[in-house]
Amino acid sequence: MYTEKTFALSSLEGITPESVAAHLGLYAGYVKNLNTLLASKEALATGDAYALAEVTRRLAFEYDGARLHELYFEQWEGGSTPLTTSGTLATALTKQFGSLEAWEKQFRAVGMMRGIGWAILYFDREARMFHHAWVSEHHEGLLAGADIILALDIWEHAFVAQFGTAGRGAYIDAFFKNLNWGVVEKRFAGLKA
Ligand SMILES: [Fe+2]
Repeated sequence: MYTEKTFALSSLEGITPESVAAHLGLYAGYVKNLNTLLASKEALATGDAYALAEVTRRLAFEYDGARLHELYFEQWEGGSTPLTTSGTLATALTKQFGSLEAWEKQFRAVGMMRGIGWAILYFDREARMFHHAWVSEHHEGLLAGADIILALDIWEHAFVAQFGTAGRGAYIDAFFKNLNWGVVEKRFAGLKA
């Protein structure tokens, strides 16, 4: 069974407490549905194989929905902290993308793509390189084996209520404004060689 996590979020700049509360409620729903699916799988394990297959197909949506939201909210814990420009993450991003500005421009462009899903910065330890990926919904487009360094929720539920349907850019601005880069840097530093 999975347990819903709590996040130490202080007030965010440009994102209302109501938006955060509603979004956390959606996250709780993924955890709840994940547990429901796991219970269904157990109940169907020796029963109808077709029903079990259909339930199994739904696992990645709920599992990734829960996990990606945990990565997302954790990035705001501890409050806004800048990227350490001389740190290992900034150095590696600069080496691959030319500059931090160039990296951010490219990442934001992924976030502005049409559709519902996630803009994700990955690091592939085998090839020692970053990738940007668009993940539709929560589970289509995930890069197998690569590690998630930064996850930006681009579902309309993340921004439309507060920023409007054309407010994606303003939402991405607010996402970055509140980002604790220390959390993101820790993920990168914690990767095994
Ligand atoms: Fe979300």
